[in-house]
Amino acid sequence: MKYQAPKGVKEYLPPSSALFERVREALISPARMANYQLMELAIFEETEVFTRGVGESTDVVSKEMYTFTDRAERSLTLRPEGTAGVMRAVIESGLDRGALPVKIWYAGPFFRAERPQAGRYRQFYQVGIEAIGSEDPLLDVEVISIAAKGFAALGLTGFELVINSLGDSESRNAYRQALTEYLLTLSLDEATRQRVQLNPLRVLDDKRPEMIKALASAPSILDFLNDTSRAEFDVVQQGLADLGIKYTINPRLVRGLDYYTKTTFEFVHPLLGAQSGIGGGGRYDGLMESLGGQPLSGIGFGIGVDRVILACEAEGIELLQERELACFIVPLGAQFERQALKIASELRDQKLRVDLAFGGRALKGAMKAADKSGARYAFVLGERESQSQEVELKELASGAVQSIRLSDLPQFLIRSLGANS
Ligand code: HAM
Repeated sequence: MKYQAPKGVKEYLPPSSALFERVREALISPARMANYQLMELAIFEETEVFTRGVGESTDVVSKEMYTFTDRAERSLTLRPEGTAGVMRAVIESGLDRGALPVKIWYAGPFFRAERPQAGRYRQFYQVGIEAIGSEDPLLDVEVISIAAKGFAALGLTGFELVINSLGDSESRNAYRQALTEYLLTLSLDEATRQRVQLNPLRVLDDKRPEMIKALASAPSILDFLNDTSRAEFDVVQQGLADLGIKYTINPRLVRGLDYYTKTTFEFVHPLLGAQSGIGGGGRYDGLMESLGGQPLSGIGFGIGVDRVILACEAEGIELLQERELACFIVPLGAQFERQALKIASELRDQKLRVDLAFGGRALKGAMKAADKSGARYAFVLGERESQSQEVELKELASGAVQSIRLSDLPQFLIRSLGANS
């Protein structure tokens, strides 16, 4: 019997897992710099957190959730996204009673029962941030800039930022009415007609060519923003310009989740084809209240780590050279293995990456393992070396050999490679 990972589950194994770590770290780092703090959260939640939080009219809730009943007949769901769970945890912990905004980052796997294809998986990985408890539109700018810094740190240049405003509830209600009236003049299939009743804005997300055509002359949300919403959207645009962040406005950008209000945004990478959204987010005014908390506003994003890796590959960005293995130790027989492990352990304490041959291997096989390991240096540890406390250190790429005292080894390796973690 040969088992396989479930269909559509994206996994990262060596050597590509190093790339995954590197990309995830690059996306998290700008959030840390802006004082966002980690939340490590439940991977599954009570189903209602998502039906209420994300919204019944969305594909994510209506078609894509992994929902199951536990042994006590509770309905639980593997998290399809991060925002609703963060909100549940903030309310539950009372973090919203402290200093505001609460600034959170998170990273981990998310689950959607989608049809798998390149860049679209059933288990995928996000890095996300949420800033909760401030309505200041400059916070929207901060959030967008953190995503942009992550992409830039990886050397990505081909991504584009698209923004929109869905307005406050007054603006959105006026728009919803006008949009519904317009949509009902079209000949729609039954499912779409139902969607119009549930949430007409969702229809703007319809990617079918005939719908895109039919929606071309639909009213624009931007014509329905009241003075406050318009002024806030202006602040967002000015703030982005201040930071040199280029964007385009797309009044059709509604995003796939129901909680959005005011600013929404998406980062797209045109080289990625159908699944071009590498990250997206926006403001959510009513979410916390709908989950039983105070009426606080929040804003955040989720970035798809898998898609960012694909974008780096599409741009031909080389991300891996650092973090090389400093040294590989070849003990001559089992009796020197203990001593080799002790030396390795001491070098590792100096933040040097070190490996050794285990299993009492013969010299030839062990030297082959050293070569394969990609280490910069290797040395043999046997009777002679143990007595003299001096080893013949071989640079594997060039074959050059030099004698070096074991006590001088850490300094030598740090000087020639630099310590790393
Ligand atoms: P989202 O747009 O549904 O937003 O997902 C964010 C990102 O996750 C997408 O832009 C995409 O890169 C990635 N992604 C989504 N689904 C898949 C999939 N099936 N396979 C691979 N990657 C995928 C959210 O999840 C919101 N919680 C973002 C947010 C945070 N809004 C406010 N705060």
